[in-house]
Amino acid sequence: MTKLNTWLKNTKPLIPVIVIEDIEHAVPMAKALVAGGLHLLEVTLRTEAGLAAIKLISEQVHDAIVGAGTVCNADEYQQAIDAGAQFIVSPGLTPELIQKAQQVQKEGKWGGVFLPGVATASEVMQAKAAGFTQLKCFPASAIGGVKLLKAWSGPFADIQFCPTGGISPENYQEYLSLDNVMCVGGSWITEGRLLTANNWPEVEKRARGIVG
Ligand code: 3PG
Repeated sequence: MTKLNTWLKNTKPLIPVIVIEDIEHAVPMAKALVAGGLHLLEVTLRTEAGLAAIKLISEQVHDAIVGAGTVCNADEYQQAIDAGAQFIVSPGLTPELIQKAQQVQKEGKWGGVFLPGVATASEVMQAKAAGFTQLKCFPASAIGGVKLLKAWSGPFADIQFCPTGGISPENYQEYLSLDNVMCVGGSWITEGRLLTANNWPEVEKRARGIVG
């Protein structure tokens, strides 16, 4: 079992979904999150700085388990691995991503986890047919949230989900209480205005609030 899977199994964590605009924010932000007790960090590839941020955090913040989010094609998948990502998250699943993930798995050099995104029952079935049993449920709140995940626990009892999209301080615990939810993702802990203001104490405080 990978370090990441052990972590998921033991802690059911919240994963901050992070958008880094300024590379200078990467390390202090990651340190604040780790100090607040959150170790799994998803840095999205939505900005120029995303890959460089993953590299810096993986090199300099050893208690962080950093992953790449918004990975939409095979090139980004490889770039994320090269930057040091220990997990990869995609909003969806394409034949290109399936092929890349299977090729990487066959090579056996990367011990990370890929969480492809699904939004319908057919997509869950396609992901399962391709060998994936840990899936991002996106955009969770917009497509039915807790009710949807409860409904999926019947036909897809062997699938574990990471709901993201609309997860908030008010509802994350309800999601985490579900047996088929292994973690949740949310962006509010690393809200853009906190990063812009270098407000690391508030980032740490929000993280600590999650950990309890
Ligand atoms: C995303 O991919 O943007 C995540 O799902 C985060 O969504 P949120 O901003 O609603 O937390």
